[in-house]
Amino acid sequence: MADIQITARRAFRRTDNYTPGTPKVKLVTEDVNTANGGNPWPVTPHGIPCNDAAGEIIALGEKVKTLSRGDRVAPIVDTENITGREPIRSWLAADEDGVLADYLVFDETKLCKLPTYLDWVGASIIPCAGVTAWAALKGFTVGHSVLIQGTGGVSMFALKLARAAGLQVVLSSSSEDKLEKMRQQFSSPPLLTVNYASNPNWHEEVLKLTDGAGVDLVIEVGGCQSLVKSLKCTKRGGTVSQVGYLSKQDPSQLAELLPVLIDRRVILRIKTHMDDLCAALSATQMNFDDVIDSVQPFDKADEAIEYILQGKQIGKLVLRIEGK
Ligand SMILES: NC(=O)c1ccc[n+]([C@@H]2O[C@H](COP(=O)([O-])OP(=O)(O)OC[C@H]3O[C@@H](n4cnc5c(N)ncnc54)[C@H](OP(=O)(O)O)[C@@H]3O)[C@@H](O)[C@H]2O)c1
Repeated sequence: MADIQITARRAFRRTDNYTPGTPKVKLVTEDVNTANGGNPWPVTPHGIPCNDAAGEIIALGEKVKTLSRGDRVAPIVDTENITGREPIRSWLAADEDGVLADYLVFDETKLCKLPTYLDWVGASIIPCAGVTAWAALKGFTVGHSVLIQGTGGVSMFALKLARAAGLQVVLSSSSEDKLEKMRQQFSSPPLLTVNYASNPNWHEEVLKLTDGAGVDLVIEVGGCQSLVKSLKCTKRGGTVSQVGYLSKQDPSQLAELLPVLIDRRVILRIKTHMDDLCAALSATQMNFDDVIDSVQPFDKADEAIEYILQGKQIGKLVLRIEGK
């Protein structure tokens, strides 16, 4: 290190071992979840909590090339996720120590430079809340619609980004007061809102607000309790960005998941897909002889169905009507 000598460092460290489901440390937002064992992944015992932070570089290692003293930086939350292709993960405040300390040391590859126009408070919410909202919204653009659930840290960051990008926003909350405040704050264009506490069928309200079609994207923070309803009010072919798990995580609430998922997401079979496929086949002149199991006469339909029920087929079995 250069000339700075740190003689003391203050850090808050958990004094207990991680016990799933047992409240341990009182903090805010994502850190509450992580510290309290609310994350569905293990937390290092006696670790330092919190993962949103911003700070100034006061000293550098000799081999650091990309950063200088005085740079305003923040660590990424998943410190193994530099390019998005790494096979492993390591979260601050979960798999490794978090940031609730006055001095932090990081490898330069795990730090991002912060926008200079923001004060420290604004900059400090970028790494976790900000980047989560950014990732959840990625690929969506002006004219798309998004349901943003709740008025927490990730959701409010997502609301700011979505409005800046020209998305139509439906905001949900359990509180009419919060919704009223947000409608006033984001009045032009008018913010569409839904109260998920007073209306257990809030997904139907979202459908009504979107002419029955649903939104292009849901930023999902509830998990088991809300996921199926979120899918039901997502446009066919739309996206649910699952970021959170704030509701009671009871898998029995997911009983309808598969049919809804298939209906909304996977088997689209819209006409333009078929037109596109036919165009692709004409262009490639692909044939399917190698994936036709067999061709049977029409009056062998019974046997053919039995053959398929027994799972003997490879590919498709075709019944030919005589003369065709
Ligand atoms: N995947 C990631 O990388 C990542 C990163 C950060 C956070 N997270 C997770 O994302 C979730 C949100 O994080 P946060 O930091 O924004 O939390 P937060 O600030 O504590 O947000 C809580 C808000 O979410 C709303 N909410 C609570 N239960 C809900 C439910 N069942 N359905 C819909 N909305 C509900 C409530 O809003 P109202 O009061 O308006 O009803 C509540 O105030 C957490 O589960 C967190 O662990 C994930």
